[in-house]
Amino acid sequence: MKRLYMQEVATRDGFQNERTFIETEDKIALIDELSQCGYARIEVTSFTSPKAIPALRDAEAVMAGIRRQPGVEYTVLVPNVRGAERALGCGIDEANLVMSVSEPHNRSNLRMTREQSFAQLKEVIGVIGRGPVAVNVSLSTAFGCPMQGDVPPEEVLRWIEGFVALDVRGVTLCDTTGMAYPSQVQALSEAVRGRFPQLQLTLHFHNTRGMALANTLAALQAGVDRFDASLGGLGGCPYAPGASGNVCTEDLVHMLDLMGYDTGMDLDRVIAASARLPSLIGHDTPSQILRAGKRLDLHPIPEHVNSLGQQIGNNPTERRQ
Ligand code: COA
Ligand code: ZN
Repeated sequence: MKRLYMQEVATRDGFQNERTFIETEDKIALIDELSQCGYARIEVTSFTSPKAIPALRDAEAVMAGIRRQPGVEYTVLVPNVRGAERALGCGIDEANLVMSVSEPHNRSNLRMTREQSFAQLKEVIGVIGRGPVAVNVSLSTAFGCPMQGDVPPEEVLRWIEGFVALDVRGVTLCDTTGMAYPSQVQALSEAVRGRFPQLQLTLHFHNTRGMALANTLAALQAGVDRFDASLGGLGGCPYAPGASGNVCTEDLVHMLDLMGYDTGMDLDRVIAASARLPSLIGHDTPSQILRAGKRLDLHPIPEHVNSLGQQIGNNPTERRQ
């Protein structure tokens, strides 16, 4: 059974996009619940400017309040040196740095050119150093940008090469606004794995155009074993027009479990956590499994079907109709 690694992003990618502020203690309780679900990694929050992302302005308090589960890595999004210093003070396991491979999206999201971002992230990597904290770099719009359009794969590989030279542990290819499609995902994943076999590669899909599960299958075919997903399918980038939710964790795990992959996840526990989301955020989520149940959550045969069956069984004329 092939082992896959699931990484939860709802409390970062999801909550950064919610209109109402989710109380710190509610965030902590949810993360503590998620810690029991079997994730390889949880992206707890982000150490961005509170003006840019007010929903996550309580990052320190959340990190201080959670109960860490051995075996689960706790990562946070870090945009700059200031964010890295704040995050390092909280005992993170990994810093997830972010830049976009598209120039207009990088300027819109981070207010810098890509070159400026790269220079700044190089500085961040220097601050984190070679200590116990790992570095991952999330490359936004790796499969297309809502302003620029297609991003050439060579361009994505070029930025990865730059970060590999700085010795980062991992890179995440982010489909920020759901522009990826399966054959493209397979080709780029194969290219990245072929060129950088030592790199820990994560794929991060949004379901904006309904292709997230199909894209996951394409990535699996290319040998990818690590996926970001968001409880209830929450998520979206506030600086990308038309962005919407990540691939939904329970929908993804449900599919992978059926296919015989070892996700390490307790699906029932994930579904129970997802069921509590609407009351927390004040609206429904796009989760399909929460609505429909698991594939073999069967329903009782309605009474009228039973009695109809008996009638049909007793009457040969009706049976023929
Ligand atoms: N933590 C806390 N405060 C920060 C900060 C950080 N990591 N980075 C910057 N700030 C503060 C500065 O102190 C300054 O505060 P002041 O106005 O009170 O003096 C203010 O934010 C602006 O700082 P500046 O250096 O001019 O940055 P900026 O306004 O160009 O913002 C980013 C740069 C990257 C920090 C900001 O755009 C950001 O956090 N964006 C969020 C990106 C994101 O997470 N997107 C979604 C996920 S992909
Ligand atoms: Zn995202």
